[in-house]
Amino acid sequence: MRTTRIATIALALIVMVALSIGLAAQTKQAPAKPAAKPLYDRLGGVYAIASVVDEFIEALLVNNTLNANPAIKEARDRVPKAGLKFQVTALVCEVTGGPCKYTGRSMKEAHAKLNINEAQWDAMVADFRKVLDRFKVPQAEQQELITIVGTTKKDIVIAK
Ligand code: HEM
Repeated sequence: MRTTRIATIALALIVMVALSIGLAAQTKQAPAKPAAKPLYDRLGGVYAIASVVDEFIEALLVNNTLNANPAIKEARDRVPKAGLKFQVTALVCEVTGGPCKYTGRSMKEAHAKLNINEAQWDAMVADFRKVLDRFKVPQAEQQELITIVGTTKKDIVIAK
């Protein structure tokens, strides 16, 4: 009789332990997703960024919508394009989480005399998208980049 009671208690204990282990396993949180790599890395690093910027600036230099603005045309003819490519590469590298340090002027200062309007901004973004497509930059990364570039619009577009 006594042996039976002990056996029953032991069995009950085993069932309780088994149940609590099962419950713990069920409530255990799913492992956290690994953090996404910085955009800089997903773009392929500074060589890939420099290559995109190279083609982008080349496209802008022959963009008729932009060159119809005499202030842009004057600055384009005056400023060495290699320097501009360097500065834009450093800026993109920095703001996407890369190791570069941009040392140029603020966007407001650099574009203050250029009288850039909405149509010229849109022409620039269209060229940017074309170059990103040519380089097969995935849509998600393109969107992230365009969003970052978009944050500068209020400082660059000053003409009506
Ligand atoms: C329609 C749009 C834009 C046009 C027409 C334009 C044109 C120019 C021109 C002509 C310069 C040379 C100005 C000078 O040295 O006197 C310049 C400088 C620069 N731009 Fe833009 N830009 C545009 C948008 C942007 C955007 C969206 C970015 C980056 C997010 C950018 C980044 C720069 C940088 C980093 C410099 C060099 C500043 C320095 O050397 O201190 N630009 N841009």
